[in-house]
Amino acid sequence: MKTFSILCFMIIAAAGITAAQPVTDKRTMPHPAIEEKLFGKLRDGREVFSFTLTNASGTRATIINFGAAVVSLYVPDRNGKLADVVLGYDSLDGYVNSTTYFGVIVGRYGNRIAKGTFELEGNTYHLAHNDGENSLHGGVKGFGKVLWDAQPIEDSNNPALKLTYVSKDGEEGYPGTVTLSVTYTLTAQNELRIEYTGTTDEPTILNPTHHSYFNLTSDPTKTILDHELMIDADAITPVDAALIPTGKFLDVTNTPFDFRKLTKIGLRINANNEQLKFGRGYDHNFVLNHYNKSVRKVAEVYDASSGRVLEVFTDQPGIQFYSGNFLNGTVKGKNGVFYQHRTGLCLEAQCFPDSPNKPQWLPSVTLRPGETYRQTTSYKFSTK
Ligand code: BGC
Repeated sequence: MKTFSILCFMIIAAAGITAAQPVTDKRTMPHPAIEEKLFGKLRDGREVFSFTLTNASGTRATIINFGAAVVSLYVPDRNGKLADVVLGYDSLDGYVNSTTYFGVIVGRYGNRIAKGTFELEGNTYHLAHNDGENSLHGGVKGFGKVLWDAQPIEDSNNPALKLTYVSKDGEEGYPGTVTLSVTYTLTAQNELRIEYTGTTDEPTILNPTHHSYFNLTSDPTKTILDHELMIDADAITPVDAALIPTGKFLDVTNTPFDFRKLTKIGLRINANNEQLKFGRGYDHNFVLNHYNKSVRKVAEVYDASSGRVLEVFTDQPGIQFYSGNFLNGTVKGKNGVFYQHRTGLCLEAQCFPDSPNKPQWLPSVTLRPGETYRQTTSYKFSTK
């Protein structure tokens, strides 16, 4: 009797569904959408998931909750053909063993802190020396090699993923427990927007950034030297041989750092210039014009071969332009490709490198209890 009524219920329910809803055709699946999949397992058994955000025009970004890394980004070329424009790894192992920071959120302090040391409110803090005698990108693990909590946010036009990481007091040598949330939104305008909010329970420093390597050709066997670049900056913060800022500004006029108009990256990269020698190419913080804490366009990249354009918007005072100089053919990336010298470029929005040791530089990177750190940076794709 019981079985019979369950059966009747199932038949009625099935009939109801058929009557109320048309058969779902995969090709007409409603967009935008978020698809979640198992990406891999960490050695301690914790699972890592990937989240693919797809907007109404089919542009899609896949993000994993390990390192909050963007692992692929499919955007159209001038013929509407979608292809992946970021470097990355095929599997979780690549991200676990990575020394390249492909696609991740770096922090607590993106970029370098001289000698891994800074003072805050009368205390001296010592961070790991993971870049010669300096600290780079938050330390040994930083934010790029930890598991974040992930919360997909379905939105009728703009699918999003909110990732949250709680960094304990003393982690990597930094004071205070910091809670950082990063929300990636893929907008209907083909923009990958990254919004950060951070709080702390003790005074600390916070300067996270995003570390995707872009190659707009979508062919990572090609270099980025033919990409044209514009950065709206009248100055850079010049560095010493260990890439620590000297504390001064250098006017870009009549130097290979003048990108105020779209200019091929390869045009001057091998010029006889001390700063380029120190960076082995471009690896410098640009002092962005028009800084007033609101979001404005600060950079543009154009690849004539595909027609792809990348515009960068941020509310930050600086941007690190890194031309992939440390890629040397030893890193095996997606589809088994060994990434050669300068096959990807990073544009990392940030406060200036080593700011904790440069009190003359504003804004302060200190975050105190009761305050909220905020950053908005967008990478917007189009064609011409
Ligand atoms: C830095 C480079 C560093 C690279 C690591 C960039 O943000 O500026 O100097 O080698 O990250 O992938």
